[in-house]
Amino acid sequence: MKMEKTENCKGFENAWLSYRLQTDCKDMQYFAAVYVECTDPVIDSAVSELQIASEQILGRRVVLHRKAPVLGAVGIWLKLDITETISKEGYHLYEKEGLLVIASAGAQGILYGSFACIRQLQMTAPLQGIDIKEEPSNPLRMLNHWDNMDGSIERGYSGNSFFFCDEEVLINERTKCYARLAASIGINAVVINNVNVRGNATRLIAEDYTPQIKVMSEIFAVYGIRLFLSLNFAAPMELGGLETADPLDETVRQWWKDRMKKVFTQIPNFGGFLVKADSEGREGPFTYGRSHAEGANMLAEAVAPYGGVIIWRCFVYNCQQDWRDYKTDRARSGYDNFAPLDGKFLDNVILQIKNGPMDFQVREPVHPLFGAMPKTNQMLEVQIAQEYTGQQRHVCYLIPMFKEILAFHTYCKEQNDTVADIVSGRTWGNQNCGMTAVANTGNDVNWTGHDLAAANLYGFGRLSFNTNCSAEEIAREWILCTFGEDAEVVKTILEILMMSWPAYEKYNAPLGIGWMVNPNYHYGPSVDGYEYDRWGTYHRADHQGIGVDRSSAGTGYAMQYRKPNASMYNNLDCCPDALKLFFHHVPYTYKLQSGKTVLQHIYDTHFEGAAEAGKMRSMWQSLQGKISEDIYQRTLERFDHQVWHAREWCDQINSYFYRKTGIEDEQGRKIY
Ligand code: GCU
Repeated sequence: MKMEKTENCKGFENAWLSYRLQTDCKDMQYFAAVYVECTDPVIDSAVSELQIASEQILGRRVVLHRKAPVLGAVGIWLKLDITETISKEGYHLYEKEGLLVIASAGAQGILYGSFACIRQLQMTAPLQGIDIKEEPSNPLRMLNHWDNMDGSIERGYSGNSFFFCDEEVLINERTKCYARLAASIGINAVVINNVNVRGNATRLIAEDYTPQIKVMSEIFAVYGIRLFLSLNFAAPMELGGLETADPLDETVRQWWKDRMKKVFTQIPNFGGFLVKADSEGREGPFTYGRSHAEGANMLAEAVAPYGGVIIWRCFVYNCQQDWRDYKTDRARSGYDNFAPLDGKFLDNVILQIKNGPMDFQVREPVHPLFGAMPKTNQMLEVQIAQEYTGQQRHVCYLIPMFKEILAFHTYCKEQNDTVADIVSGRTWGNQNCGMTAVANTGNDVNWTGHDLAAANLYGFGRLSFNTNCSAEEIAREWILCTFGEDAEVVKTILEILMMSWPAYEKYNAPLGIGWMVNPNYHYGPSVDGYEYDRWGTYHRADHQGIGVDRSSAGTGYAMQYRKPNASMYNNLDCCPDALKLFFHHVPYTYKLQSGKTVLQHIYDTHFEGAAEAGKMRSMWQSLQGKISEDIYQRTLERFDHQVWHAREWCDQINSYFYRKTGIEDEQGRKIY
C-alpha cells in the first residue's frame, strides 16, 4: 500500500468545499455549539465537517456537547431520531428558537443535512427560519471510476488515478478529500476500478489486496460511502486456476462462494460488484452458452448472505460487425439481449443501463430497456468523463442532458413512468436501483482537468440525490460554492455552463448521428472515422442523403419502444429533429420541422456552434481579475483550444457535406 503525500493538490483539493472567510455572517450564533447525543463514526464526520466549515468560514470554533440541548440553548442539534418522518438518508434542516436542527432517522441523513447547512453558509443564504426537507431520489448514488492499477485511467482526462499507482492501492490525502467531496453531494457508493478488469485488477478480490481495500473502505465508510469493485467474470480461471468459468459448473459456483465469503468478512463495509461481461472482449456467460441471468445470478447467490449487490451492465453488443451489413444494428443489442430475461434475475441484481443505446454520444435517444423490464431492477449509467463530449478540454455542462433523460416518459405505466421514476424505485416499488456516472476525476490539481468540468461532478451528485433540482439551480450552487458570490462571476459562468452542451452539439455530428471522431481516441473531428470500421457506428452518408434507417422498414430499432414512442420515432415526420438521422436515412434536401433542409441545418448549426465557442471564451475573459489567476489562466488555455477545435469541427463537417452534395450554403459563408 502506498501512503504518499500528494503535494500537487494543495489549495485546490477541496474544490467546492474550499471555504472563504465571511466576516459579516448573520448566522454566526448557531456555530457556537453542536449538540449530539450518540456516538457514531458517520455523525462524527458530520461534526468534524461543521467544525471545519465554521473555523474556515466564520473563524469560529464550535464546541461539541455530547448531550441534547436544554431549553433555550443556541447552537446546532444533530438529532438522530427514528420517529422522524424522514428516512435514514434523508434530512430535515430547520431553525427553531435559536436552535438549528438537523434531524434524520440515520447517521447518513445527519451528514447530508450538515453538508446542506454548510452549503447554505457558503452561498450566504440565511439560516434563520430555514426549513428544508430532502429525501434522496435514488437509493444508489454511485460513481464508477475506470481506473487501472498501473495508474492510468480509461477515458481519463484529468491526470492519473488517485486510487492506484504501479499496481498498488494508493491511500493518501486525496482518499479522504475525495470521500468528503463525494459525501457532500450525496454519493453513497463508489466503484474504484475499471470495468475492463485485466491483469492485477483481477486480484483485487484476492488476499493480496484485501488489507488495502479494507483501509480504503473504512475511509469511505465514515462518509457513508460503500466501496464496490469491478469484477472479472473469468476470475475462477485466472485467479482460481479452474478450467472453466461456466456459471452452472458446481466447482465454479463454490469457488465464487468461498471467495465472496472471504471478501465480505474481511471488508465489512463492502458493497458488491460491477460486472462487464460478454462485452468488448470481456469474458461472460455466452462463452459457455449460458444467459446473462445465469451469469449474474451465480454471483448474486454468492454475495447474498452478506447483503452484497451485483450490478450487471447491459452494454453488450457485437463489436465485430461488417460495415457492409445494413441489418445488424448495435442500437438494438441491449434490448435484444436483456428484455427477454425480465423476471429471471435475483433480487440483489441490478441491470446497469447506459442512458442511450450506443455509447454516451452528445445526443442519443433514451435506452429502450428503461421501462421494458417491470420485474427487474434497473439503474441509469451516464458519463461525466467527457469521452465524446470534449474530453474535458471543451466545456460541456451535462446536467441539462441528464435532466432530459430522467424526464423521458417510457409509457410503461399510466403514472410514474419516467426514467427518473424507474431508477428511483417509484415505478415498481423496488429498492435496488439508482444512478451512476462514469467519473471524470484524476490526480490533476483541480480534480477534473478543466475547472468547469467540476460542475458535472458536483451536478451529478446533487442531481442523483434530488432529481427535482433544475440544471440551473445546481450550476448556481456549484458556482457560488466554488467561486463565491460576485454577481458578475455567477451570472457569467452560469450562462457559459447553460449554453455549453447546446453549443457542443451544434458543432458536433449532426441530428443524433454521432461518431464522427477518430477511432480509439474518440476525439474529433473525423467524419468517416468510424464509417468503415467494425464497431457498428455508421452515418451512411452518400451524395444524396445521410442517416441510419432504424424504422420498421430498416433495422426495426424504433419498434423496441412502447407506444406512442415507437410510432413517434418510426414516423419520419414525427421523429424529433434532434434525432432525425439516428432513426432515418433522408435526402440532404429533406425539410426538418424547423423548416430548414437537413443540409442547411448542418451548415447553420456548425457556424453557430463555432461562434458560440468564441462567445464563451470572451465571456470567460471578462472575468479576469475577478477569479483566482491560476484558475483563470488554465481555463483560458482550455477555451483557446476549444475555440480552435470547434472551428475545426465546423469547417471539416461543412466541407465534407459540401463536397458530397455540391449544394451551396444559402448564406454564402466560406466552406472549403
Ligand atoms: C466505451 C469506451 C470504453 C469502455 C466502454 C464501456 O466503449 O470507449 O473505453 O470500456 O465504453 O462502457 O465498457
